[in-house]
Amino acid sequence: MAKNTERKVNTMWGGRFFSEPSNTMEKINSSIGIDHRLAGQDIKGSIAHVKMLAHQEIIPREVSETIIDGLKTIENEIMAGEFKFEVSLEDVHMNIENRLHDLVGSDAGFLHTARSRNDQVATDFRMWIRESLDELVMLISRCMMAFLGIAENHYDTIMPGFTHMQSAQPITLGHHMLAYVEMLSRDKERFGEARNRLNECPLGAAALAGTSFPIDRFMTAQALGFDKPMANSIDAVSDRDFALDFVSGAAICATHLSRFAEELVIWSSDQFRFIQISESFSTGSSIMPQKRNPDAAELIRAKVSLISGGLVSLLTLLKGLPLAYSKDLQEDKEIIFRVHDNLCLLLNVMAEMLPEIKVNKEVLKDSASSKFITATDLADYLVSNFKYSFRQSHHAVGELVRKAENLGCDLKDLDINHFKEIEPNIDDGIFEVLAVRHSIKSRKSYGGTDPSQVKARITEWKKRLT
Ligand code: ARG
Repeated sequence: MAKNTERKVNTMWGGRFFSEPSNTMEKINSSIGIDHRLAGQDIKGSIAHVKMLAHQEIIPREVSETIIDGLKTIENEIMAGEFKFEVSLEDVHMNIENRLHDLVGSDAGFLHTARSRNDQVATDFRMWIRESLDELVMLISRCMMAFLGIAENHYDTIMPGFTHMQSAQPITLGHHMLAYVEMLSRDKERFGEARNRLNECPLGAAALAGTSFPIDRFMTAQALGFDKPMANSIDAVSDRDFALDFVSGAAICATHLSRFAEELVIWSSDQFRFIQISESFSTGSSIMPQKRNPDAAELIRAKVSLISGGLVSLLTLLKGLPLAYSKDLQEDKEIIFRVHDNLCLLLNVMAEMLPEIKVNKEVLKDSASSKFITATDLADYLVSNFKYSFRQSHHAVGELVRKAENLGCDLKDLDINHFKEIEPNIDDGIFEVLAVRHSIKSRKSYGGTDPSQVKARITEWKKRLT
């Protein structure tokens, strides 16, 4: 049984302090409005800790059982939405410990043996991010499926491919969609790597130096699903590189989404008309009755700034901190929760918006047959058939393009004699080489836009994702 020392309301450090914090101090100091989201992890961590304490005979078994019962009651109260989080109790750890005291009395005081809030919060936070990473990986897969859906329907739908936002070479829409599938799959990998790296347990590092109690850190690490305990107690409580891994991976993933969102905005414009976004993901204008605005895509593009801003915030938060713990670290959670919430939203919106997009195949095709888009095919043809070096050929075709431009026509509209001027042995077959469909089909190099290749990639991806 605990010694009967008088417990002051609110303060865990009541032995040392006589007065309560000022209201403004409470405002800046309290994190419960944010870190209540760690409650589930905090209770799991406490149960693992208290079981270990009893196993190591650091606290009596009956006490540990009382504490665990109390923690489970608290867990139920939180899940039922009945738990009252108090700002005056500062954070999630103290809210829970205080409630435990209400429920089980002085036995609650044994829970905090051989630990500190410093290792406690680092443990909770790692577990929270671990769950978030698992959720995000699932949402990315769903989003990849949505891209794959369009790719499958349009594996041979011709469109212009762009460089510098100028028509470059014809590609297929399927190929373009698969580019995003590849990007998102690397995002998933990055999250997987972040997960592997974060999966070491800080619990037992205590305030910063470890503890004099004979704890078993391997036991708590295992109970909480970690691979092993962290090897350095100072590192365990002070670094947040696992959160940086998370937010940098998130920023990269969000950037990928933003690039596509930007393409959606451009493609759905009256000037492009490549696609139409469904009404359910568009908005109208309060003044212009004709308008149909791509707000969802614009907001994806915009909210990415909050995510990449999160990366900058966290880097800035950490860069000036001497080891080990400083209260600055309390601010890390708001950043990470916001990044998580926004990235989940963006992935969900993208996954739901994509299947409803209407593709204007005719417009895409027309747009791909303009502006010398197969000039490279002609250059390649001269190299393959007439022993030109690529540079010679590039020059010759360049001159021909200029000629066509002066005549106000496309390459394919030139007379055969114009081609014969650069290469006398060219015959009518050249017009086939200049055809967009021919161009697409000839891009058979691994990873190229040839529709049969695109189809093969889609089959591979579908297998990998299901
Ligand atoms: N709420 C705190 C945080 O999130 C918990 C750790 C507090 N530790 C301390 N030594 N004051 O960082």
